[in-house]
Amino acid sequence: MDVTDMLKALPVSDGIYCIHADIQTDDLFEGIWPIPDGVSLNTYIVKGEKVALIDLVRDWTDAPKQLEYALNSIGLDFSSIDYLILNHLEPDHSGWLKEFREKNPRAAVLSTAKGISLVKSFFKIDTGLQAVIDGDTLDLGNGKVLTFYETPNVHWPETMVTWDPVSGCLFSCDAFGSFGALGAKVFDDEFTGEEHAFFEKECLRYYANIVSSFSNFVEKAIQKLAGLDIKCVAPSHGIVWRKNPLAIIERYQKYASYAKGPAEKEIAVIWGSMYGNTKAGLDAVIRGIEAEGAAYSIHRVPDENISYVLASAYKSSALVLAMPTYEYAMFPPMAYVLDIFRRKHIYGKNVLRIGSWGWAGGARKEYEAAVAALKWNNLEMLEWAGYPSGDNFAALEERGRKIAMLVNGIQI
Ligand code: FEO
Repeated sequence: MDVTDMLKALPVSDGIYCIHADIQTDDLFEGIWPIPDGVSLNTYIVKGEKVALIDLVRDWTDAPKQLEYALNSIGLDFSSIDYLILNHLEPDHSGWLKEFREKNPRAAVLSTAKGISLVKSFFKIDTGLQAVIDGDTLDLGNGKVLTFYETPNVHWPETMVTWDPVSGCLFSCDAFGSFGALGAKVFDDEFTGEEHAFFEKECLRYYANIVSSFSNFVEKAIQKLAGLDIKCVAPSHGIVWRKNPLAIIERYQKYASYAKGPAEKEIAVIWGSMYGNTKAGLDAVIRGIEAEGAAYSIHRVPDENISYVLASAYKSSALVLAMPTYEYAMFPPMAYVLDIFRRKHIYGKNVLRIGSWGWAGGARKEYEAAVAALKWNNLEMLEWAGYPSGDNFAALEERGRKIAMLVNGIQI
């Protein structure tokens, strides 16, 4: 990145600045999830008599260089930092710690006790560390007193948030974050409706991919922070919410509720087909869904990346899973989808599974074992040999109507 493309630190409130590094890369986030539209790594400066940097970056594209440039834009450099607050130790927010320490050996590193233990194990740093507990404060002088609240498992067990009661800024790290590079704007009131629609999609995908397994902890954290007069939500990924902080908190609350099962009145149709026989049956199911006017999205595997399939399934109240038997078992790309659904707690959905088989079945048995723990309401499964018969088509269309009626809240 050329220096002319770099962004200055942006004032959030008196003595508080947002610095963000936009990451544009073919790398996968967490080594799994694609980020074709990038992701931002946000850090924050809080300046009293002392200077605190909240969260760090990893050495990814040129994030440390962007951080340095932005610090310089407000007359600071790495040596100006008195305290480095690490709300969360996942390396996207901490990976550059060793290099930071070399540039500034005197800054105290603050985190929860579990966070400090990760500093030791990840970075082999043992000195200048300060563990904080729930409610601890850090007085920076000039009226800037930060408070720490432990919010475990949003996203890792060591996670905390940092709160500035004077400005009403909540530095929430992963919580309330999203995928998507920000560009030159960071505040919610600066983005157009179209840009907000983009970030909403990327927020859902981020939530489903990264946070969904911890939804009960998200709910607990929101309850715990409910008494704070939050005027600005400042996460470490994505938009900074200064005009309508409640919007992102309510969005996360809604996403957390999806983990219990009932979600949007939509069906995520996920399918794989070897030679078109399962696809022919699926087309009949879709005719039934369309006849009932239910909303649906469609995802072919393995063509579509699991990141997007997961996001769509997470927000839908119902799933149609169409897959053939493959070597006496499930079509392998669908087996992977179900494994991810189990790991990411895609619970409580209304589900229809269909598929063809060639010389023998086998997918059913493996499927039933794979979904046993997911608390799904499984509609009667339909399998057939080879190409669907006329009776099969009629039954499949009927199944499509049934799942559509369930989603639309019509008694069947
Ligand atoms: Fe953005 Fe869990 O790290």
